[in-house]
Amino acid sequence: MAEKYFKYVILGGGVAAGYAAREFAKLGVNPGELAIISKEAVAPYERPALSKGYLFPQGAARLPGFHVCVGSGGERLLPEWYTEKGIELILSTEIVKADLPSKSLISAAGTTFKYDTLIIATGSTVIKLSDFGVQGSDANNIFYLREIDDADKLVEAIQAKKGGKAVIVGGGYIGLELGAALRINDLDVTMVYPEPWCMPRLFTSGIAAFYEGYYENKGIKIIKGTVAVGFDANSNGDVTAVKLKDGRVLDADIVVVGVGGRPLTTLFKGQIEEEKGGIKTDAFFKTSVPGVYAVGDMATFPLKLYNELRRVEHVDHARKSAEQAVKAIKANEGVGSVEEYDYLPYFYSRAFDLSWQFYGDNVGDTVLFGDNNPSSEKPKFGSYWVKDGKVVGAFLESGTPDENKAIAHVAKVQPAVQSLDQLASEGITFASKI
Ligand code: FDA
Ligand code: NAD
Repeated sequence: MAEKYFKYVILGGGVAAGYAAREFAKLGVNPGELAIISKEAVAPYERPALSKGYLFPQGAARLPGFHVCVGSGGERLLPEWYTEKGIELILSTEIVKADLPSKSLISAAGTTFKYDTLIIATGSTVIKLSDFGVQGSDANNIFYLREIDDADKLVEAIQAKKGGKAVIVGGGYIGLELGAALRINDLDVTMVYPEPWCMPRLFTSGIAAFYEGYYENKGIKIIKGTVAVGFDANSNGDVTAVKLKDGRVLDADIVVVGVGGRPLTTLFKGQIEEEKGGIKTDAFFKTSVPGVYAVGDMATFPLKLYNELRRVEHVDHARKSAEQAVKAIKANEGVGSVEEYDYLPYFYSRAFDLSWQFYGDNVGDTVLFGDNNPSSEKPKFGSYWVKDGKVVGAFLESGTPDENKAIAHVAKVQPAVQSLDQLASEGITFASKI
């Protein structure tokens, strides 16, 4: 069986892998020292594009347009970039076994990859309805979205089912972004989710009321408080209907499911310390196994600001954790220096002509400010989260770049506040003057 050795191996070829490669190149890596092993067939790209520009009916984003690191305003790393740097991109290669004590990874094709230092960047996978035994969930035209292959299949179906009916299962990030994308493609969209309002992981009822109203104004139907319990299919195996727990049956030509992600840690079970569903790391993304780092979606790391171990499934952290791990690896070799990771959580989303940003922690009391009437011509509103008399989190829809900077600053410095009424009346002005 073939065996290959690299000084550094990055397992996974997603966002974190791409940003790690750029950092290696910045700090110095000799040709042949670094390999990225990915089951995807393409070089690292900005995954967020898949649920947004990739699905536009006109002028859709396509590779090579959104390879990393364009999402953060950086250089676009085309496959040639890796070749020039002597970084080996080992694509379409799934690792099926990891043996950390012998520092080896084994691919589905039987190749053994040996390394001195490993960065685990396998990200998340989708939770499937079949995981809960939902009847008929293997019918055709039921889609999940994680990788570019999934997006390609969805685009094909969107084109084939023009004017048809789409049901979105789930009211989180995927649900909201895909609901909008399918509506823009002229499908008749119904969204279904179990909670009393969308995106309950982050949104307050006041924030959610705006998005639900806005979506309804766009013609999207929203069904809350129930779940999909089964699917009907025709004789070709194509989905025709979604059966809900409350007894309703929705016609469907396309179904998109977004019911959460799960970090891909299975290869390492029993070999490495885990915490909160991810691989536990220190502030340099070092795991419990010497020479092994974990970054991105699957790392559970110390979030210094809140003195707590957390896992974050968002792109900004994937980028920054990857850079931090590489800085730590190189600092260990005497190249450059590294400080403890001090992360300020940052999440964002875009759908229709809306765009929001959130910074900090969504705990404590909340206050809503601004115009959150979904029928307004230019709605603009936000929310603060206040804990122990301090502002700890801030959300803003349709902010300017300066305003977004201001809410990030507020979440970082956590200013004291007299009363929630003050925040409600001052709104974004409060953040802008801090
Ligand atoms: P990522 O998932 O990017 O990469 C993991 C890589 O590992 C993949 O290439 C995978 O194939 C590979 N892999 C896994 N197991 C393997 C194995 N055994 N062998 C070989 N390769 C393996 N966030 C945000 O802040 N704003 C946004 O707008 C969005 N939008 C968004 C849209 C969509 C459709 C998704 C799915 C996700 C987002 N996100 C987001 C979340 C964000 O994209 C996510 O947090 C990062 O991609 C995480 O980066 P990682 O590198 O950790 O995983
Ligand atoms: P999510 O956790 O955001 O949302 C899951 C949603 O699934 C819940 O809010 C709930 O409404 C719903 N749900 C749960 N069980 C259900 C059931 N049995 N039936 C129907 N609905 C059910 O997860 P997601 O939207 O699937 O996103 C997957 C991953 O992709 C996450 O890591 C997310 O952070 C990432 N992502 C992020 C962005 C962004 O940051 N803008 C965009 C897209 C995807």
